Amino acid sequence: MSKPRIRLGLLYGGRSAEHAVSVVSARSVIEALDPERFEVVPIGITRDGSWMLPDTPPGELVAPEGGLPEVDAAGTALALRPEQRSAALTELGVPTAGGVGRIDVVFPILHGPYGEDGTVQGLLELADLPYVGAGVLASALAMDKAMAKVVLAQAGIGQAPYLVVREHQWRADPESLALRVAEELGFPVFTKPARLGSSIGISKVKSFAELAGGLEAAFAHDAKVLVEQGVRARELEVGVIGNQRPEASVVGEVVPGHEFYDFEAKYLDESSKLVIPAPVPGAVAERARELAVRAFQALDCEGLARVDFFYLSSTGEVLVNEVNTIPGFTPKSMFPMLWDASGVPYPELIARLVDLAVERHEAKKG
Ligand SMILES: Nc1ncnc2c1ncn2[C@@H]1O[C@H](COP(=O)(O)OP(=O)(O)O)[C@@H](O)[C@H]1O
Ligand SMILES: [Mg+2]
Repeated sequence: MSKPRIRLGLLYGGRSAEHAVSVVSARSVIEALDPERFEVVPIGITRDGSWMLPDTPPGELVAPEGGLPEVDAAGTALALRPEQRSAALTELGVPTAGGVGRIDVVFPILHGPYGEDGTVQGLLELADLPYVGAGVLASALAMDKAMAKVVLAQAGIGQAPYLVVREHQWRADPESLALRVAEELGFPVFTKPARLGSSIGISKVKSFAELAGGLEAAFAHDAKVLVEQGVRARELEVGVIGNQRPEASVVGEVVPGHEFYDFEAKYLDESSKLVIPAPVPGAVAERARELAVRAFQALDCEGLARVDFFYLSSTGEVLVNEVNTIPGFTPKSMFPMLWDASGVPYPELIARLVDLAVERHEAKKG
């Protein structure tokens, strides 16, 4: 007998600067899901944070010339009600209707703040809905590059040297902060908003004179900024899935088509290459896979994560750059491709992630 279909609530869009990337990921998930096993309920979150049953599903949204698609506000507004799980999502203004009906599992395919950072995960905990991916704490830790550094360092995981700069500190005394950066890190450095992704707001700062510009570009997104020593390194990435016993995928390499892996290189042009498996010595690949699982566990991740590395081929060092708890999820994104190369094709990967969400929810105490 076939299993009952799972009603999968797919959350996409959202308030972050990575809104459009999320729409593209959601579109791919819908296309790939086995309709005999899953019934998808697309739930769009507009840029201003309204939850909608959209009139236009993500697959039909038209992207503007040279840009990426967006959730539009046409649709039925939803409210999240932490009552019975079956009615947790209710259509606003239709109190007696069944709302969106039963949702078995939510897949928040949201990147960046208000999606990948534990906020939506907290809401789903309140509603007692099983959901794919890391819980509140791990999501929040991994999203905050400064906090993740502290926890990963505590676990003995090597990273590039850095300073955390708050906007008010910089405004109060830019000269001494700039001197500290020059003395402790040297140039180039990378200036990064602490809590964002997709390279938004990141600059490569090559000299003392460029530091203020780099910091301002990052402060435009976050009052907490990481200034990190630039490393000359190759970029490796490993997918991890699992709950208590996480497994690592094969290792991939990103070869950015630009000077670094910036937003355009990631999404808007075809200049970058993803190479799977990464052409590195076997011992380096093993080291990256082992570190990926350690980083996943150190941050208390569950479900999935993509762990990104810098490989300094001159010294053989493998440093962790960052952990992404909701990595890009189109079939051409690194995470699904790594799993495909590891013997888990895209539709199967999604099904496994849903199983892990249910397993975690069932194991939860209280
Ligand atoms: N310390 C660094 N040294 C060299 N390149 C870096 C460094 N930090 C970031 N980069 C470059 O910038 C890209 C984006 O930085 P990352 O920290 O991964 O931010 P995001 O979360 O936006 O992906 C990296 O993929 C890499 O190309
Ligand atoms: Mg990155």
